Amino acid sequence: MLAPAVPPAIAAPVVPNDPAVASSDDGKYFDAAGNPTYKIGKNGEVDWYTFSGYRRFNGSCEVCHGFDGSGSSFAPDLTDSLKSMSYDDFVKTVVDGKQAVNTAQALVMPAFGTNKNVMCYLDDIYVYLRARANGALGSGRPAANAPKPKTAADNENACMGP
Ligand code: HEC
Repeated sequence: MLAPAVPPAIAAPVVPNDPAVASSDDGKYFDAAGNPTYKIGKNGEVDWYTFSGYRRFNGSCEVCHGFDGSGSSFAPDLTDSLKSMSYDDFVKTVVDGKQAVNTAQALVMPAFGTNKNVMCYLDDIYVYLRARANGALGSGRPAANAPKPKTAADNENACMGP
């Protein structure tokens, strides 16, 4: 049997385990495609935004998606969803919400587009879930975290408003 022809190169999908290749001066990390990602040091210290995402997720999303994103009878396991979901689809889902059709139960993902407690921390929540989906971070409070950069505090104040 002949070896199959080499398939044509296709653009690499954005996968959650793309490593951090760059960081900005406000302490954020990005993958090669420019999407936000996490950074975890050898001692288990997570970057500030991953830690913030842990807290924000368990404040706003955990009630349906389960502690640390591992799912419940109401809502999917996001540590699984984020294995294949792009950053853009994640943002769109959280901003606009989503409603499963053709299911016996009505499953509703609320739209958070006007909720500052979510929108001001959307990338934080994303990088946290990305670390969870990639198995880089276990369940529970991260062992240690980088200090909060001053720019993070400034951006937070600007986003949350008076
Ligand atoms: C009131 C319950 C509820 C809350 C609160 C909630 N979700 Fe959801 N979410 C759902 C349900 C139900 C679905 C599945 C909807 C569907 O399949 O159409 C879902 C789906 C999702 C999906 C898509 C998963 C997939 O595999 O397609 C993402 C991403 C998501 N939620 C993120 C979040 C984030 C981030 C938060 C917190 C800011 C949050 N959700 C808060 C109920 C909730």
